[in-house]
Amino acid sequence: MLRRVEYNVFNFPASMVTVDLLTDSGTAALYQPMWAAMMLGDESYARNAWYYCFLDAVRDFCQRGDRPKKRYVQLFDSRAESFKTVEQDFSHDATERGLVSGGVEQFESPNAFLLPQGRCCETVLFQSLRPYWQGAKPLILSNGLFETTRANAEFAGFACQDLFDPRLMSSSFSPDKVGQENPFWGNMNLPALENFLKTSAGNVAAVIMTLTNNTGAGQPVSLANMREVRGLCRRYGRIPLWIDAARIADNAAFIKRFERGCGPKSVPEILKELFGLCDGFHFSLKKALCNIGGLMCLRQGGAFTGRYPKIGTLMRKLQILSYGHDSYGALSGRDIAAATVALGEISKEDHLYPRIEQTQYLALQLAKRKVPVVLPPGGHAVYIDVNTMFEGRPWNDLMGVGLVVELLRRYGVRGCEMGYMAMELDLYYAKHKKLPEPMPPNLVRLAIPANVYGREHMDYVADALGEIMADRESVPGMEMVRGQEESGLRYFAGGLRMKSRR
Ligand code: F0G
Repeated sequence: MLRRVEYNVFNFPASMVTVDLLTDSGTAALYQPMWAAMMLGDESYARNAWYYCFLDAVRDFCQRGDRPKKRYVQLFDSRAESFKTVEQDFSHDATERGLVSGGVEQFESPNAFLLPQGRCCETVLFQSLRPYWQGAKPLILSNGLFETTRANAEFAGFACQDLFDPRLMSSSFSPDKVGQENPFWGNMNLPALENFLKTSAGNVAAVIMTLTNNTGAGQPVSLANMREVRGLCRRYGRIPLWIDAARIADNAAFIKRFERGCGPKSVPEILKELFGLCDGFHFSLKKALCNIGGLMCLRQGGAFTGRYPKIGTLMRKLQILSYGHDSYGALSGRDIAAATVALGEISKEDHLYPRIEQTQYLALQLAKRKVPVVLPPGGHAVYIDVNTMFEGRPWNDLMGVGLVVELLRRYGVRGCEMGYMAMELDLYYAKHKKLPEPMPPNLVRLAIPANVYGREHMDYVADALGEIMADRESVPGMEMVRGQEESGLRYFAGGLRMKSRR
């Protein structure tokens, strides 16, 4: 089967996989209240009842900290009456503005957009930004862009620069300290950011902080780093600060547990602080337990809407052109119901910490078996350091892909490469006739779907990788045979073959 799908694991049938660690996106097992809410889904075409509750839950999640209103809870009681109250409250409520406007402001300057998933937000975001930069080659700076974010930005004509924390991949961390300390290697490289801003602030369309940093080995970002980034954005001309919030709740849990002075704060209060620093965000709800969903919000009166006046109207236009009415954004009413409840569930500590601890468990089991895993692990996945595992093999052997293929072929475990193939290093090399400096991380990711697997699965995966580690000489190099030039898409659609079998 691997041969038939040209060794691209995204094309491999899920039913043949034993432990599927391809992604934690849309693959979580949902909590009971989410299922219960789905039974009350309202499939009206326009302004379905849950839409109002959803927007209010977004305010709970982003802005209200320890004082959520949890208006949706009433819906489980006396439905007809409660719906009316929530709708009336919301459609009159223009006082609590911030990231989700109510009242007529929703129509005059829309700032909260419901979409099918994160990348749809990214398409709408960058396509809407483009007209403000006619003739220029604007720049997006980030602590680490996810590949769809980068692909969407580049497709719209933006240049992207990741400024990873230099400690990431160049430092070691003792297994004894896992669960005790965290160095926040997901941070933005502040001196590098300042250098860029000093010379080219006028060309920077936005700074995007990804929380947690998925391409940066899933590492969290500290609140202190977020504050510093915000300070630099302000100092160099009110540059909009944007958050890719896909795993922001995990990130807040790391801050609470490991950042100095943050222990006494609750996760919702930390979320309020993080969101309080941004001028806008997008959020793949598929990471927030939901099977589907995306959300994008702009701060009313913030640097983003200030720099790009009326952009919300353009975003709504694109939303309606492609995804239907703005109150459903190509989601079914029951998806919106599930998402509403999920926003409450994901900031609970008894959801967050068992998940983080399961990831730690797998990472430590791998370390015990001498597999070079990035320690400490992030919240949703463990990352294997391909260059250490396959020291001496050339970069264009794409050993990360080789490892993913062997793990699936021999053990039925599916992970994914997030390294030189995903980063399109060969295309960079062909264009610039040299390799980038510094080189991007070369990783294989094993992402753990929430609430799906148990300890035995983790032990099995650790044993499998331990065996491959002991026999790593036999792992084949790979090369692309189809779709190599198709930047942005080839990761999912390209074909490969084995270079050498020793
Ligand atoms: N941003 C981040 C940080 C992501 O991890 C993802 C998706 C997206 C944006 C795009 O969101 O999938 O809803 O369109 N990450 C998945 C993953 C696919 O496996 O890490 P989406």
